[in-house]
Formats: sequence, structure tokens, C-alpha cells
Amino acid sequence: MKKQPLILTLALLLLTLPFAQANHHEEEDHHTELEDQMSAMNKAWRSIRRQIKDPAKNESTLALVAKVKAGAQKALDLTPMLAEEQKGAAKEKFMAGYLKAMKRTVGLIGQLEKALKAGDNAGAAAIVGKLNDARKKGHENFKPEDED
Ligand code: HEM
Repeated sequence: MKKQPLILTLALLLLTLPFAQANHHEEEDHHTELEDQMSAMNKAWRSIRRQIKDPAKNESTLALVAKVKAGAQKALDLTPMLAEEQKGAAKEKFMAGYLKAMKRTVGLIGQLEKALKAGDNAGAAAIVGKLNDARKKGHENFKPEDED
């Protein structure tokens, strides 16, 4: 008598497991162009953070900033995977927020270029700090949680 509920639970688990796995697989296979752009930006971004304070590297830093800028500009035309799960007004709100944050990011990258061209490394380092906050906030608000 007592064992029956356990058996039922186990049977249910066995029945639902394949579906859960199928779902998981779908998510793993889901790949977006935005991810590609972000990955491309990431390598340049790490180097920028390492060398931003070194005036001797400004030319190289500017070339790296151009890469991040190109990625962020392309990202303006792309749709995050979380938006695809939404509909109607919620989706519009999500996309408006995403676009606003990405436009601000592109603006900050423009400021970063200006500071570097002027040889203002302290100013440039401060803008890199702001961009890093924008990256973190952007990921908090628009990127699935299970990813970095
Ligand atoms: C310097 C700035 C940034 C860097 C270096 C960066 C880097 C990355 C990296 C490495 C990923 C993971 C890619 C993968 O899974 O293959 C990612 C994903 C993502 N990032 Fe960024 N990111 C930056 C700024 C932003 C900003 C400002 C936003 C939003 C306004 C944003 C939104 C996203 C989203 C939504 C994803 C998930 C991809 C998708 O939903 O299709 N990122 N980013």
C-alpha cells in the first residue's frame, strides 16, 4: 500500500524524462547570430581592458575598439534569444529596452575612441569601466541566466 505512490512518482518521472531531455537539447542547439557577434567582441574586449592604461598601446587599442564597435553596431539589428520567447507588448518592451541599452553602448564606444585619439588614457579607462557596467547590466536584463 505504502509503496504505490512512490511507484507512481517513478513511473511519472520515467514518462516525463525524455521530454525534459528533448527540451534541454533544443536549448543547447539554439544558437543566435547575436551570440556570434558577442563572442567576437569578447576577445577584443578582454585585451582592451588589459591595455587601456598604456599610452604606448593606444594604436593597437583603437584597432580593438573598432572590432567591439562593429559587433555592437551589428547587434542593433539582431534579436536576443529571450525575445523570441515573448509576444506582443512584452516583446516590444523587451526589444525597446535592449535597443536602448545597445545604443548607449555604441555611444560609449564612440566616447572611448575620442578619449584614446586625444591620448587621454585616464578618461578612456573610466569609459571602459562604464562599458563594463553596461555589459553586465545588458547581460542581467537581456541574456538567459544559465550563461555567463
Ligand atoms: C563589451 C561589451 C560586451 C561583451 C564583451 C559581451 C560579451 C558577450 C558574450 C561573451 C556572450 C556569450 C556568447 C555566447 O554564448 O556564445 C554574450 C551574450 C549576450 N550578450 Fe553580450 N557582451 C557585451 C555587451 C552586451 C550588451 C550591452 C548587451 C545588451 C544590451 C548584451 C546582450 C547580450 C545577450 C542578449 C546575449 C545572449 C545572446 C542571445 O540572446 O542571442 N551584451 N555577450
